[in-house]
Amino acid sequence: MAILEGRNLRKTYRLSRKNTVEALKGVEVVIEKGEMVAIMGPSGSGKSTLMHILGLLHAPDPNHGPAPELYIGGENMASLSDNARTKIRARRMGFVFQDFNLVPTLTALENVTLACDYAGIGGKQAKQAGVAALALVGLADRADHKPSELSGGEQQRVAVARALVNKPEIILADEPTGNLDSERSAEILALLRQFNREHGQTIVLVTHDSEVGEACDRVIRMRDGRIRTAITGAGAPVMAAPAVAVPA
Ligand SMILES: Nc1ncnc2c1ncn2[C@@H]1O[C@H](COP(=O)(O)OP(=O)(O)OP(=O)(O)O)[C@@H](O)[C@H]1O
Ligand SMILES: [Mg+2]
Repeated sequence: MAILEGRNLRKTYRLSRKNTVEALKGVEVVIEKGEMVAIMGPSGSGKSTLMHILGLLHAPDPNHGPAPELYIGGENMASLSDNARTKIRARRMGFVFQDFNLVPTLTALENVTLACDYAGIGGKQAKQAGVAALALVGLADRADHKPSELSGGEQQRVAVARALVNKPEIILADEPTGNLDSERSAEILALLRQFNREHGQTIVLVTHDSEVGEACDRVIRMRDGRIRTAITGAGAPVMAAPAVAVPA
């Protein structure tokens, strides 16, 4: 079953009346439930733009050529209000960004439970979920640290905990290992792989690292605002998952 399905996805950025950038030129993409997919391609090829559209952070252009379509779990996103889209984003999706995107003034735990707030979960329940998510990524003992008191790899693990805390069906990660050394990068990738295998979460990640791509089930390659080829095949399990317990 397709969990993410997009057709005729276009995005043109208008910098001035004469100066526009066609970041997406009509993309069709289908991602099956439980897949772990890498999006690869040169800088500027439209990977982040596509991720933002799939993650309901930006809307595709409605008025160039055939109407864009976007379905999440079979539900048409085009007909939903902004409010409904925000709810879907908060409850069904988790995001990880290259630069971690943590709030510097909040502790690791507070950063994680912020995602609970957005999903309408507060108080004790949020705290418990936050503590559990931090434990999952091996950071139970860093809950009270601010981002500046954590290493880069630890900050990214907090970001992964934040993405996972509401047990979303879909995780979208834009270069989640881009700012990490190869060891930390392998750790984050193994964590994502583990969640994908044990919970069937669908993971879409952008990467420039071919090893990361090889560890996924499938690589979608982009060039110049379009999808080039979709190579299907079993991903090589290039690394062992870390020994952390995953709650049901
Ligand atoms: N907000 C914006 N305003 C104008 N142009 C933009 C904007 N965001 C992206 N672009 C342009 O759209 C194109 C696609 O950008 P995008 O960020 O999707 O690329 P990318 O594949 O993620 O690249 P990278 O690997 O460098 O992150 C680029 O040419 C970029 O300059
Ligand atoms: Mg990008």
